[in-house]
Formats: sequence, C-alpha cells, structure tokens
Amino acid sequence: MLELWRNTPGIGVGAGDDHTSIAAFIQRNPSTCLLMKSGDTIIGTVLGGFDGRRGYIYHLAVHSDHRRRGHGRKLLQEVVAKLEALGAGKIHLFVLKSNEQAILFYEKQDWIKRQDIEVFSFNTPK
Ligand SMILES: CC(C)(COP(=O)(O)OP(=O)(O)OC[C@H]1O[C@@H](n2cnc3c(N)ncnc32)[C@H](O)[C@@H]1OP(=O)(O)O)[C@@H](O)C(=O)NCCC(=O)NCCS
Repeated sequence: MLELWRNTPGIGVGAGDDHTSIAAFIQRNPSTCLLMKSGDTIIGTVLGGFDGRRGYIYHLAVHSDHRRRGHGRKLLQEVVAKLEALGAGKIHLFVLKSNEQAILFYEKQDWIKRQDIEVFSFNTPK
C-alpha cells in the first residue's frame, strides 16, 4: 500500500504514513480499510475511519494503469457503506486544492465541496 501511495501524486504521504502508524490505523478500523487486488498486485486502496460520530476517508487511490474502469467508484461506495453500517451519518475527506482530477471524481460521486469550512491542523509535541 505504501508503495502505491508513494507512486501516486495526489496522495500526501506524510508523517503518519509509516508502517507502524498505518498498521495501527487498520487495527482500529478493520472493517473499513479496503484493498483491491489484481492477482497478487495491489491496484487500489482506501482507508476509512470511524470516530464514533463521523466517518473519515483517507488515501483512496487506484493505480494509474487501472483508472477509469470504475474501481475508484467501487472502493468509495464500499467504504461509505461500511462506515454507514458502523453508524456514521456524515463522512468527511480532504483533497488537496491542486488535485483537480480527484475533485472532479468526488463531484461525480455526488460529494459536496464545502465552501463554509476551513481546515485547521495542530501538530502535537512529540
Ligand atoms: C481519484 C481516483 C481514485 C479515481 O479512480 P478511478 O478508478 O480512475 O475512478 P473511476 O473509474 O471509478 O471514475 C468514476 C467517475 O469519476 C470521474 N472521474 C474519474 N477520474 C477523473 C478524472 N481524472 N477527470 C475527470 N473525471 C474523472 C468520471 O466521471 C468517472 O466516470 P467515467 O470514467 O465513466 O467518466 C484516481 O484517479 C486516483 O487514484 N487518483 C490519484 C490519487 C488521488 O488523488 N486520490 C484522492 C485523494 S483524496
């Protein structure tokens, strides 16, 4: 998964994306982290997380050789269904403003681009 993300512009591979952090996320959210494979090769991923109130989606990625075949839509529909089953009434995700193809993709899937919210982040001291 890390190799796919590192080779996918649009996926911000940051400090929380080392092997240990991702393994911990998957352990906390076992039913909402999904892989798509072709044979032994990972061609798609999505990480869903539920915090007890909202759902969050990270790292939806389809390998560049396998795009525009409905895989992204399928992964998104699946993770939404699984987050909904856990009780998430609303789901959020973050997209870089420069990632025009992802914005078009999400708009096509009827996601709403919020105009009323600014995102704030805080790095906790190590
Ligand atoms: C965004 C992404 C996951 C879409 O995956 P995909 O498998 O190619 O998407 P789908 O084939 O399911 O596309 C569904 C529809 O979304 C729209 N769409 C998808 N990619 C698009 C693009 N590059 N430009 C315009 N519309 C697009 C189309 O309407 C498409 O339907 P169509 O092919 O019948 O026209 C993929 O492009 C990707 O991995 N991008 C890099 C990683 C990334 O930016 N992820 C989002 C991080 S927040």
